[in-house]
Formats: sequence, structure tokens, C-alpha cells
Amino acid sequence: MINVALPKGRLGEKVYQILEVAGYPCPAILEENRKLVFENEAAGVRYFWVKPSDVAIYVERAAADVGIAGKDVLLEYQPEIYELLDLGIGKCRMCVAGKKDFRDRRDRTLRVATKFPKIAKGYYSAQSRDIDIIKLHGSIELAPLLGLSDVIVDIVETGKTLLENDLEVKHTIVPISARLIANKVSYKFKYEEITRLCRQTDEWIRKEAAR
Ligand code: PRP
Repeated sequence: MINVALPKGRLGEKVYQILEVAGYPCPAILEENRKLVFENEAAGVRYFWVKPSDVAIYVERAAADVGIAGKDVLLEYQPEIYELLDLGIGKCRMCVAGKKDFRDRRDRTLRVATKFPKIAKGYYSAQSRDIDIIKLHGSIELAPLLGLSDVIVDIVETGKTLLENDLEVKHTIVPISARLIANKVSYKFKYEEITRLCRQTDEWIRKEAAR
């Protein structure tokens, strides 16, 4: 039995559909909307719905053998896991954004609002730039609008949230996509099952890309 942590939401549903055609079906997962654990003994798979930012914790601590996590979460928390595959979905980018008329002054400490303090610190320390991190948990775009911060470091997907709030991308820090990750001990002891899941998922992704 292979235990898979799926990120709750649209990305997780898409990933489930990939795993279903890759040979790991468990159709009840899309029918019931409060249950969190689903199992198909015949297919040798058990799925859990997990908050997207928690997937890496479940995998790191072996509550799940494998999981699907955004590269943003992996960069921020740097869990001790193996990153097996770039699924090429859930694509977006980590950016610095701010008001259109914002001009940076290097003689002043930059106030940066973000859900990703480690990524933000890493990006600015590489430029030897002093920053003041303001850790928020959502609606990050509000911070520069209300003068709480000078810029934000956040995910940009369609760019719609920035556009509708008169903000713009100043720099792209890194492209982001969903990754298949594995627990290090599970990878050793369930090597056959995990590499099979990884290979079949990879084949399906390549087939899709070639269409
Ligand atoms: C994320 C991110 C941006 C938005 C970007 O927020 O923090 O706010 O999506 O998407 P877009 O470029 O397609 O507009 P999320 O929806 O996770 O909500 P949050 O504000 O609670 O973080």
C-alpha cells in the first residue's frame, strides 16, 4: 500500500486525475466532500486530502509515503524529502511586486510583506539588501496599498490580483510548479512501488505534453 498526500483543492483534483489514469484509481475521492482518507486496496493506494502547505510535513514525517507539493512550499520550508518529479502543473512564479510608482531607495530598509519569509530573505540577502519582513497569511496585495509595506514577495499566477489592485511585478524570483515528493525512508523500503508510481505519472505527463 502506498500512502499519497494530495493537496486539497483544484490542483489536488487534477493530480488525482493523473494518478487515476496512471493506474491508481479511487473514484470515491471525487464524490464525497468531507471525508479525508480514501483507499483502494486492489490498486494498492491510500489517498489523504491535506492542506497544500502541510503536504511536505506529512511526507517528511512519514505520515505519507509520497505527496504533491508546490515548489514554493519546498523552497520556504526546505523539508528533508526527495523531490522526484516536476509535474509541470500548478505553474506560477514567485515575484517581488509593488505599486507602479514605487521607486526603491537603497539607503532605506525595504519593508517586505510576504507569506514566504525564507524565500524573501534569501532573495534580498543575495543582494546584500537590508529588509524588514512583515509576515502575513493572506491577501498580501493589501500591504503596499495600505502603506504597511513597500513591496510584497508573493505568488503570481494569472496576474489578475496584481492588475486589479494597481500593482505590478518588479522582479521574478523563481518559477514554481507542483512536485512529486517522497519520504526518504519510504523511498528506500517501498522503492518498487514509489518508482512505479513516479514512472507511470511521468509517462502520462509526457503523453499529455506531446498531444
Ligand atoms: C494567491 C497569491 C495571490 C494570488 C495570485 O493567493 O497569494 O494573492 O493567488 O493569483 P493571480 O496571479 O492568478 O491573481 P491565494 O488565492 O492563495 O489567496 P491568499 O490571498 O489567501 O493567499
